[in-house]
Order: sequence, then C-alpha cells, then structure tokens
Amino acid sequence: MAWVNENFAALEDSYLFSQVAHKVADFSAAHPEKKIIRLGIGDVTLPLVPVVVEAMQKAAAEMGVKETFRGYGPEQGYEFLHEALVKYYVGFGVTLESSEIFISDGAKSDCGNITDIFDDANVILVPDPVYPVYLDTNIMRGRKIVFMEGSPENGFLPMPDPAVKADIIYLCSPNNPTGAAYSKAQLKEWVAYARQNGAVILYDAAYEAFIEDEALPRSIFQIEGAKECAIELCSLSKTAGFTGTRCGYTVVPLALKRKTKNGKAMSLNKMWLRRQTTKFNGVPYIVQRAAEAVFTPEGQKQCRENLAYYKENARLIGAALQEKGITYYGGTNSPYIWMQCPRQMKSWEFFDFLLEKLGIVGTPGSGFGSSGEGWFRLTAFAGREATEEAAERFRKLL
Ligand code: MLT
Repeated sequence: MAWVNENFAALEDSYLFSQVAHKVADFSAAHPEKKIIRLGIGDVTLPLVPVVVEAMQKAAAEMGVKETFRGYGPEQGYEFLHEALVKYYVGFGVTLESSEIFISDGAKSDCGNITDIFDDANVILVPDPVYPVYLDTNIMRGRKIVFMEGSPENGFLPMPDPAVKADIIYLCSPNNPTGAAYSKAQLKEWVAYARQNGAVILYDAAYEAFIEDEALPRSIFQIEGAKECAIELCSLSKTAGFTGTRCGYTVVPLALKRKTKNGKAMSLNKMWLRRQTTKFNGVPYIVQRAAEAVFTPEGQKQCRENLAYYKENARLIGAALQEKGITYYGGTNSPYIWMQCPRQMKSWEFFDFLLEKLGIVGTPGSGFGSSGEGWFRLTAFAGREATEEAAERFRKLL
C-alpha cells in the first residue's frame, strides 16, 4: 500500500490562480458575447524584446551545428550568465561570486524547491497577505506556519516582532500582491532579527526591476550582514517578459551557514548545489543565452521600455481609482495595484461583481491570506487598449 503525503489534504482545493481561471472560463462559456479584460494573474503581454529574440535565434542555430551543439549544461547555469549577473549586481553595489548564483527555470520553482534544504521542524514566518506559493509549499511539508499581518496601519509591510520566534522568514519586496516595498532601514531591522535568531530570510525580489525610487533597495544584499542570513530569489518573468520562456536565479551566499539538529555545520550554498545537481538538469542553453542578452546595455534599455509601458498602465488604473475615491496601494514601484473593495464588499464578492458588471478579472485579496479580505489585486500587465478600457469602465460603473 502506498501512503500519500497527508499534508496535501490540508491544502485548499486548487491553487489561487487556477481557481480564478476556472471561474473566468465558466463565465466566458455562459456569456460568449462579453469582452473580458484580464487584470488577474500577473502574466505579461508584450513580446520578448528584439535582442533577446536574436540571442535565442543565434543559440538555436548553434544547437543545429555539430561543433557548437550542447548537451547537458552545468546544473547551476552557464558561466556566461553568472558573469552577466555578477555585473548586474555590481550596479546595486553588491559583490557576488559566480558560485553564489544558481540559474533556474523560475522563482516559483526555486521557492518551492528551496524547502528541501530546511528541516521540517522549522517555524515558518509568512506575511499575510502574500504570494500563495510560500504558504502552500510549506503546508506540503507539514511545517508550522505563523503569520505576520500586513495592513494599512503598517503600509502592508510587517516588521519583526521580538516576541515571535521564527526560523525561516519569507519577505517579498516589492510585494506581491500589495505592491509595497521595504526601505533599507526596514530591511536592516529584518536582517538584525534574522541574525539574532539564527533565522534565514528567503527574499523574493522578483519585482525588483519595477523599483523607480532610487532610495529603495533592489537586493537584500545591499544590507550589511545579509549574506550571513539571506537567500535571494529572482526572476526574469516580469523584468524581461520570460513568463513563458522560464528563467530565474537564486543567490545563496557562501557565507550562509547553519547547523543540522545534531549540530553539524553546513553551508547552504553547498546544500543547494547538491540539491540542484541531484534533482535538476539546468535551464536550456537557448534560454540562458536569451537571459544573458537581457543584461547587456541594449537588453536593459529595451526591457526598461517594456517596464515603462506597464508602469504607465498602472498609472492609468491608479488614476481612475483615485478619481472614484478608492483607496489603493502599489502601482508605482510595482506592477500590482492593491485596492480596497468598494462598499465593504468581500474580496470574492467583488470578484463576481467586477466580472459580471464590468467584465474585468482581478484577483481576490483573500486568496493571498485572510488579511487580504476586503482587498483586491489588479495587474498592470494587460495591453494598453484593454487597460484604458478597464480604467474607463471603473470610471463609469464603480
Ligand atoms: C501572480 O500573478 O501573482 C504571478 O504571476 C504568479 C507568479 O509569478 O507565479
């Protein structure tokens, strides 16, 4: 008899974005005449930028020639991409060794996979509301999870509570779903807390490229002492439109050490390398060449143009909400707009209202945690025309 992992029984029936997709599919089937505007899942709509496409084409051609064909690559990624990332981090004033960088098929996978290197007895501290993957992947391991509440009072940026003892801390900045971003001073407090408690911060920086305020940190490693207590997860999905191309990177500093329950000192970098070389065969060469192109000066210029397009979308939505006197967060250093549901509606109630009355899809705040109840997330990733129309519908009907 094969027993299955009973922790799965503790999960919600389906992953948040699948649940939204099913509801929208049912609605579309029932009302094929309605034009639906999708501001739900944060999926990009602009195509890959030209330098990325050229790099992919060149790499694909290399794969078709005996002399330049590549089979298995290094599981942790090719050196050319490590070097590009080392330079990218220098731009934030952060010095990394290339062996501290691990290339993957995206931050979502790494977020889940990183749970492998930690003991299940750890207490996990998760912000609420937050990206559901942190919670669900730890429920799958049967771990004890404690929540820290995000609210308008703390600007949706929970800070350490000395009374709460946690071993693994998830931080996401700029935050998904609220768009709020930690300042350097706030991250300094988190680093101090983690060091004091021997905890490890899993810092999700997937939206760092949206930061426009130069005073805000783009990486947790801009904070002194973070290399002894943090792992950073990053992605090209939103930065460079790689949601369908799949490439991300995780930084595990060489200085990050913790002990096993029996007191054996371990390097987390070595553990992650061991985990990846055992369970992962690396990202395709073609995709890594495409990622390398993102970090060239021309790639950065072209990607920034796309980011500016999405930021303008965020501004358009924000302006419409502001006109209607609706409170919202985010939309400046982030592609997400976190709005309060009007007329004290609950999140799913507002989801149905918005879909049925305005033909707009968003993501219910309560899907990101109980503190998200009464809130709602809109994304800036739709096309311009659809975004303008959504803003217009908000103006007329909300
Ligand atoms: C979101 O909508 O929150 C993101 O697209 C999910 C993800 O990046 O996996």
